[in-house]
Amino acid sequence: MRDASVRLVASLSAEDQCVQSMPDASPTKWHLAHTSWFFEAVVLQPHARAWRCFDARFARLFNSYYESLGPRHPRPQRGMLTRPALAEIHAYRKAVDAAVADFIHESPAQDFARAAPLVELGLHHEQQHQELMLTDILHLLSLNPLRPAALDVPALRRPAADAGWIEHPGGEVGIGHAGAAFAFDNETPRHAVRLQPFALANRLVTNGEYQRFIDDGGYTQPGLWLSDGLAAVQTAGWRAPLYWLDDGTEFTLNGVVPRDADAPVRHLSFYEAAAYAEWTGARLPTEFEWEAAVSGPTPPAQAFGDVWQWTRSSYDPYPRFRPAAGAIGEYNGKFMVGQIVLRGSSLATPEGHARATYRNFFPPAARWQFSGLRLAQDL
Ligand SMILES: [Fe+2]
Repeated sequence: MRDASVRLVASLSAEDQCVQSMPDASPTKWHLAHTSWFFEAVVLQPHARAWRCFDARFARLFNSYYESLGPRHPRPQRGMLTRPALAEIHAYRKAVDAAVADFIHESPAQDFARAAPLVELGLHHEQQHQELMLTDILHLLSLNPLRPAALDVPALRRPAADAGWIEHPGGEVGIGHAGAAFAFDNETPRHAVRLQPFALANRLVTNGEYQRFIDDGGYTQPGLWLSDGLAAVQTAGWRAPLYWLDDGTEFTLNGVVPRDADAPVRHLSFYEAAAYAEWTGARLPTEFEWEAAVSGPTPPAQAFGDVWQWTRSSYDPYPRFRPAAGAIGEYNGKFMVGQIVLRGSSLATPEGHARATYRNFFPPAARWQFSGLRLAQDL
């Protein structure tokens, strides 16, 4: 799983991997180092007696947001880290991997038992950053007039099913993760939620449908927009999804490609998704409706593997949620304000990382993720 991170970006140049395109995105090189630092700080330093620090200065550079683990280099300046060089980051990764392997194979059983959940967390964290590396490099290269193809990834070309609705009777449903398999803490505790009868769209909204919203003047009809959304449209000059180009093409990881009218629309903010839903007379699903429908006997198409789907749910703790003790308590809990939940997974999500209870979250104006939408309506 760790090697997959390196393979994923092997075709990028050292220059590609150093630059930061905006404060929200991080350089590839930083992602590669940060995921290694996570193993060092959470697994090796506290639990592996044989670990010798690779470079004591790295903690400051590659700690992302863990207040309890010391001072940090400012996030907007991650692109200034021309040193350490990429080769040093690869050496750091190798040293961490070797130390974790030694720890797994040679540590006393009681030491490993304490740390095993943290190793597992580190691997799922690694997978989260694999997707972020792709979203961030896509944003970086979108700013290059040469419009280079970053990577050879499968194109999003799933034909859309005929639009329709999957009805749900509502009532009490179980929401959240339970059982022994891995889940992030924000998916717990499992709890009961009461739903009104609703219907969820059987597929994602397509490029062709979103084009009709644009053609109808969707971006200029104030009545469709949340107040903050309209302000974002006017300030940023949004007129189409982030990577649409004027000639009927769009910029992707594979470079510029013709826009497929039947492919899911992507790189929308929550505000745009909500305005589109308003234009159709439908609405966005809550995260609970999404989870109940996807876990039900007739799950909708395109739940996973195309685009993350904005919901109408604020990213809040589930009832009786308590962050874990120690540094990993900062992993999710402290971000539960001012963000919106997205469900499903995207073309950039690693295989096996998605599940029906997974809660992704971003600020409502975020557009550089692989984010789209599916509609819901009341019954
Ligand atoms: Fe991270």
